[in-house]
Amino acid sequence: MIITLIGYMASGKSTLGRELAVKLNYDFIDLDDYIEAKENTSVSNIFKTRGEIYFRSIETKYLKALIENDHNLILSLGGGTPCYGNNMEMLLNTPHVKSIYLKASIPTLVARLKNETCKRPLIAHLATDEQLTEFIGKHLFERTQFYAQSQLTLLTDNKDSVTIVDEIMRQLIQ
Ligand code: S3P
Repeated sequence: MIITLIGYMASGKSTLGRELAVKLNYDFIDLDDYIEAKENTSVSNIFKTRGEIYFRSIETKYLKALIENDHNLILSLGGGTPCYGNNMEMLLNTPHVKSIYLKASIPTLVARLKNETCKRPLIAHLATDEQLTEFIGKHLFERTQFYAQSQLTLLTDNKDSVTIVDEIMRQLIQ
């Protein structure tokens, strides 16, 4: 089984993915890290030099390749991955793939993202809490229609990673 972790930037996809993989004894791949290794450069640099459309095309290409064969894998996606091309449809139509949406509130995301905007090309231009709140609010509104198609949704606000991983494990065996 391939478990894909879905959610907005800073929703905990990579951290929780790593912990879940240890617990389940699955392999772990973070799609952004995978793209960076394959392309030999950072995601920020790909956005800067080739643009977002190019990034989205290779993101879909690598996602497709990674989910092709059934194996025990936790795959943390990028925040935009389910929202482009036919990516979400592809995940839902692949029987060995399970999708989990890690849902976090706008204030939680703002608090986590405000000190690391420079690492994230889509929000690098935002300086204040107010700007981040407005941007994330609109962005999440557009993206929720994709995230919400996930087979499982977990509310993550005010929960530590051990609690969330336990909840995922419980949901998986139901
Ligand atoms: C993006 C999220 C990033 C990365 C890229 C675009 C997005 O991944 O894929 O900067 O569109 O939300 P994380 O969610 O891991 O930060």
